[in-house]
Amino acid sequence: MQLKSLVGLCLLAFASVSWAEYIPQNHFLWGENRMGKLVRRATTVTSSSTAAATSTSSIASSSSVRVADPSCTNGPLSRACWGNGYSIATDFDQKSPTTGNTVTYNLEITNTTCNPDGNGAKLCMLINGVFPGPTIRAKWGDQLVINVKNSLQDNGTSVHWHGIRQLSSSGSDGVGGITECPIAPGDSKQYSFRCTQYGTSWYHSHFSSQYGEGIFGTIVIDGPASSNYDIDLGVYPINDWYYQTALQVNMETFNNLQNTAPPPNADNMLINGTNMNPGKTAGKYSQVTLTPGKKHRLRLINTSVDNFISIALDGHNMTVMSADFIPIQPLVVQSGQWLQMAIGMRYDVVINANQGSGNFWFRANVNTACSSGNNNNALAIFTYSGTTVANPTTTNTSPSGCNDQTGLIPYWKQAVPSDTFNSQVKELSLQLNVEQVTTNGANLVVWALDTTMINIAWDKPTMQYLFDKNTSYPSTYSMIELPTEGIWTYWVVQEVSARSPPIPHPIHLHGHDFFVLGSGTGTADLSTISGSLNFVNPARRDTASLPGGGWLALAFQTNNPGAWLMHCHIAWHISEGLGVQFLEAKDSIAMPDQTAFSNTCSKWKSFMAKMPYAKEDSGL
Ligand SMILES: *[C@@H]1O[C@H](CO)[C@@H](O)[C@H](O)[C@H]1NC(C)=O
Ligand SMILES: *[C@@H]1O[C@H](CO)[C@@H](O)[C@H](O)[C@H]1NC(C)=O
Ligand SMILES: *[C@@H]1O[C@H](CO)[C@@H](O)[C@H](O)[C@H]1NC(C)=O
Ligand SMILES: *[C@@H]1O[C@H](CO)[C@@H](O)[C@H](O)[C@H]1NC(C)=O
Ligand SMILES: *[C@@H]1O[C@H](CO)[C@@H](O)[C@H](O)[C@H]1NC(C)=O
Ligand SMILES: *[C@@H]1O[C@H](CO)[C@@H](O)[C@H](O)[C@H]1NC(C)=O
Repeated sequence: MQLKSLVGLCLLAFASVSWAEYIPQNHFLWGENRMGKLVRRATTVTSSSTAAATSTSSIASSSSVRVADPSCTNGPLSRACWGNGYSIATDFDQKSPTTGNTVTYNLEITNTTCNPDGNGAKLCMLINGVFPGPTIRAKWGDQLVINVKNSLQDNGTSVHWHGIRQLSSSGSDGVGGITECPIAPGDSKQYSFRCTQYGTSWYHSHFSSQYGEGIFGTIVIDGPASSNYDIDLGVYPINDWYYQTALQVNMETFNNLQNTAPPPNADNMLINGTNMNPGKTAGKYSQVTLTPGKKHRLRLINTSVDNFISIALDGHNMTVMSADFIPIQPLVVQSGQWLQMAIGMRYDVVINANQGSGNFWFRANVNTACSSGNNNNALAIFTYSGTTVANPTTTNTSPSGCNDQTGLIPYWKQAVPSDTFNSQVKELSLQLNVEQVTTNGANLVVWALDTTMINIAWDKPTMQYLFDKNTSYPSTYSMIELPTEGIWTYWVVQEVSARSPPIPHPIHLHGHDFFVLGSGTGTADLSTISGSLNFVNPARRDTASLPGGGWLALAFQTNNPGAWLMHCHIAWHISEGLGVQFLEAKDSIAMPDQTAFSNTCSKWKSFMAKMPYAKEDSGL
């Protein structure tokens, strides 16, 4: 979104926070609005505090067996097995199967209309004409080859495969301005990568906030699992939905801000791409059939642009078996409690259909403790086979508290060394800045990580600097070089209390699953913090929540040469600069094919020369 839109929607959701006090005083806060008029930036928002309530309970004791027999085969009662020496106990960072199979998909992005909840058709950008986009499915160890054609008239695009490690394929990470030039209208690009991990994820445009227009779909990579189940129900994406385009919402957010008004609420929530409209006069509920007595795997994916969501199925427990691409020790979220998800996160759960018969509501509520809310929560109907589908009469508690899900213990235990923490740890400060923005020379308020905003040039990605052996990276590339392979690096993302309102941010890293050593409120003292961190068996994933007004301590090993973005996954925030890029072991990067890379760039440059709309944000 335009840099001008100071804050993301979720920020505005928070009560009693005056923004003016967070913005550097020695600058006048003027910026050009989209109409070219100078407007005064006003800053007041509302917020509620983050209560610490946990929505889950105990860890199932049935997971005590750590090692699956590598020779056993996968089946309903042996999901921990896979075959050919691979199982849930394999360290997939070190070893993964090579099946020799190539699975190919063709995705075409078009500018069209959609109407997922019956409210009326609106402008959308879709993949192969469907919303959400098609599910990409492969097996652990397969090579995925995905051809993306940009059939939009007036925008570039690029597609990021969220959570995919991209080992030896950094050029397929899909980030315009970092790993590629965007794909120009009419052009196509081939992405190719090996599935070194398994589980559930999604893919989405990484071209400004374009995924909010509908350019996203789901990914399933079949492999072993830490819980047994009989039936795989498949993916179940959940997202916030706006009746305006993502671009219009951003403009409205900006305009509201001028009058110190909060941004618009999302109009609806969608489950698997559908819901009734808020008046319940049109649209339809997603409907899922359960087979009595069977265990069902459901793959929940948060594909929102802004809102925090809480999930429950009335009358049923949900056993969480994985968080992002990391299998975990099964965690039971009991009936009456709620599973919490931040943007970009995934949880695979097992639902035991032990209620015999009936219709049950499945609920995806915007967590009002985390955000301003929504004009409508989402419902879906889960029906036992043999029961006639009807609107359920079941009830549930309301979700409470705004905290990241706790109790996520990786199945494959891996400790993080603590002895190098104090010498290696680096703080990445997160704050609002006033910076002169290169795209239009104006002083604008932006989000900064590591003291400055990120702002890339689409026509000169980091990969181009590597091809040119040119190390004069612009400071706006927010480059953090990690030249040494095989070491542990430690990062404390710290909200600077004087310069940022106390709001949570979902922090996502490309190319790695980071280890979440700890998080807290207030200011972390780097010289003493290590004593309070978990180095023994920390949660591991690719997205974690930075608590409002607090810090998040992360670690990862430099075991994947490449150029990797780390950013806030609130679409408006990365658009406004909230990210850094790690350039990891640059001399060992497996570079993309230079001819194909340069072709994409030369087509992009020709389009950019006559582009109908200007770049007005970080581009990411
Ligand atoms: C989509 O189509 C509309 C007209 O219906 C046009 O104004 C807009 O520029 C197009 N956007 C893109 C990205 O092609
Ligand atoms: C993308 O297209 C939309 C119209 O559909 C336009 O408003 C927007 O400015 C375009 N963005 C870029 C960077 O081309
Ligand atoms: C989600 O929607 C797709 C497309 O309509 C459908 O094929 C799939 O079965 C649905 N998933 C579930 C879990 O119902
Ligand atoms: C999706 O992520 C956003 C941003 O972190 C979060 O606000 C929302 O609750 C999440 N939704 C779900 C279903 O987890
Ligand atoms: C949920 O799990 C708890 C303990 O883990 C168990 O006592 C209870 O019967 C389960 N409820 C259902 C509906 O399966
Ligand atoms: C290196 O990159 C900088 C910044 O883009 C550019 O000004 C300079 O000309 C480049 N140097 C070479 C030798 O290409």
